[in-house]
Amino acid sequence: MPLNLLSTKDVTRADFEVLCEQAEAFRQNPDESAQIDTAQQGGLLFFESSTRTRIGFETAAWKLGVKTVSIYETKHNDTMSAAESLPDTIRTLNPYVSFFCIRHSDEDVFSQVLPYTSHPVVNCGNGTQEHPTQALIDGYTMLRRFGGIDGLNIAMTGALRYSRAAQSLLALLSNFDGVKVSGFTESDLGFSEESISDFVKNGNEYRHSIAPDWDNSQVIYSAGFPPKTPNGEYSQEVRDKYKITREIADKLGDGIVMNPLPRIDEINPDVDDTPQAHYFQQNENGLYVRMAVVSRYCLKA
Ligand code: CP
Repeated sequence: MPLNLLSTKDVTRADFEVLCEQAEAFRQNPDESAQIDTAQQGGLLFFESSTRTRIGFETAAWKLGVKTVSIYETKHNDTMSAAESLPDTIRTLNPYVSFFCIRHSDEDVFSQVLPYTSHPVVNCGNGTQEHPTQALIDGYTMLRRFGGIDGLNIAMTGALRYSRAAQSLLALLSNFDGVKVSGFTESDLGFSEESISDFVKNGNEYRHSIAPDWDNSQVIYSAGFPPKTPNGEYSQEVRDKYKITREIADKLGDGIVMNPLPRIDEINPDVDDTPQAHYFQQNENGLYVRMAVVSRYCLKA
């Protein structure tokens, strides 16, 4: 059975800790990868745009000595070819690659992939549902900053229900103890009941409010308000209400401001040079976490 990384729900606390140790080892010593069989090759299939995840996996693979091939669409020329089905694309690439990293707008994309390959598959974002490697990066960033995740007080804001990064992070946090998450967003944008009940089942606490109160937060995680969601566009009033300003960042003290990026307008640029701003550290951490993911999930020794 291949070791797939399709959902954060499949990542245990032990898995997370092993991945973070490996990521830290890659940060400290880039030659850690010396034992890897470099004859393996990754297939990066990004049917939605991506900067960090696509370049992150490509660079991670290259740093491990493994080559990649990439496709972004299955139809290259309107006059020559109709779009190929995803199953046919997987079957075509299967003999050429030894693992897949896939981003797709369809939440159910993996039901069209898994029957046609026995290689490991990594979910790089499926619709609005999951973004497991972003959650691992976010957890690793908190771990590096605070030395642990148990007991953290985390404020999350943005279109949480439609943010795959936010949903995967909440699922990852359910592995820890005594975590308090405050969801600050409009009523129709809060996490689903199912996500919340999974998070609180081991004694973690969750509250929702449309009135943001950032005081006492150790982490503010702003997932942003993308231009398009099933709820349409958000008014400037909503965007401003949950915007992270320099004043909010300054008051955080030892706390941090996180964002999966890309940022639209949910964090003022004047936050960037505060010690609280951690979103570009998150981005850098992504390289080491993705090296750990490729090593653990995708490559044979
Ligand atoms: N955070 C994130 O997934 O960024 P990209 O869309 O650029 O990959």
